Amino acid sequence: MIYLDQSATSLKKPAEVARAVYQALTGTLGNPARGAHQAALEALKAVGRARRSLADFFGVGPMDLAFTPNATYALNIAIKGALSKKDRVLTTRLEHNSMLRPLYEMQAQGMALDFVPLNKQGFYHWADVRSALRPDTTAIAVNAMSNVTGDIAPLPEIAELCFKRDLLLILDLSQYAGTRPLPVMKNHPRALIAFTGHKSLYGPQGSGGLIRRGPVTLRPLITGGSGVLSFSHTHPDSFPEVCEAGTLNVPAILGLEAAVKWLTRQGLMHVQEQVDALRLQLMEGIQSIPHLKVYGAQRDAGPVAAFNIAGMDSGAVSQLLDEQYGIMTRPGAHCAPLWHEAMGTREQGAVRFSFSCFNTQEEIDMAIAALRAIAKTAD
Ligand SMILES: Cc1ncc(COP(=O)(O)O)c(C=O)c1O
Repeated sequence: MIYLDQSATSLKKPAEVARAVYQALTGTLGNPARGAHQAALEALKAVGRARRSLADFFGVGPMDLAFTPNATYALNIAIKGALSKKDRVLTTRLEHNSMLRPLYEMQAQGMALDFVPLNKQGFYHWADVRSALRPDTTAIAVNAMSNVTGDIAPLPEIAELCFKRDLLLILDLSQYAGTRPLPVMKNHPRALIAFTGHKSLYGPQGSGGLIRRGPVTLRPLITGGSGVLSFSHTHPDSFPEVCEAGTLNVPAILGLEAAVKWLTRQGLMHVQEQVDALRLQLMEGIQSIPHLKVYGAQRDAGPVAAFNIAGMDSGAVSQLLDEQYGIMTRPGAHCAPLWHEAMGTREQGAVRFSFSCFNTQEEIDMAIAALRAIAKTAD
């Protein structure tokens, strides 16, 4: 079995992650911030420690990091909590539905929404962002790394623009986190940054978060128990409490903490080089295969690759890879409808390969051979 669907979720997790989840489930952890007995306090301490570990990993302060069940929740909290009908948001046609759908909901309530168009390669340049900007733009919302092609957004330039114009930056790190360190920036704009734990951070499903940078006020999306201000009729708007209504998923959070500690021990750059090398091996191996069309603009994109074989349905190719070669990949529309429309693959979809540091060069060689054999059937 060869698993090449890391962008959907990492299948193999470090043993430390499984151990941390097991210990959380079988230990003496109560409900954090719900009670003052030993088990509740122990859970509160454990979540506080995990918050610090994650914040250190991302280079932010612990009280600027909230835990959420995944990136989708984090993006919904950011978009619906920080924006209003007074805003004008610039986004791109490379976005995932987790960004697009909350933006469309806000647009339906009167918020203005503009798009950076995509070029023939299905990507955009920094200059395209500049020209799509309007004098009354108040926020930029972008995916840091495409979940279809691995192409990486011009983050330092976008961040500097947001800083200079005092625009709110909403950043989707779902695919990016764990594959690269965040770029070092001269100036940090006000930002809300969403991440998910279960992809290239190698954490458990049900983990993720929202990072706040600078002064950003959020209205709560979900309200309820907060562990503080119990007599108030409204949910606190302080961060991170504004994002954390209800009981936290402590086992997943502690698993995610173990995952980022493991990644840090491995060395993020080392993991990045290892995984990027697998992508490059695939790209070089498939470039001479007839009928194979590779998408994406950047040679040094993240560990994701998308292609099609002639006019074959991407679902049929993925099914052949799975059933005949034991290679698991993702076909179809990848929750990125505007990218597919721009590339004319609304019907065909695209076959996506995505890589983890647990994949091997031998597996990539087998995948290249399988693609070569499938492409022959299109002759
Ligand atoms: C770019 C991007 N954004 C958001 C998400 C949503 O992540 P999650 O399902 O963990 O909330 C994904 C998941 O595939 C993604 O690739």
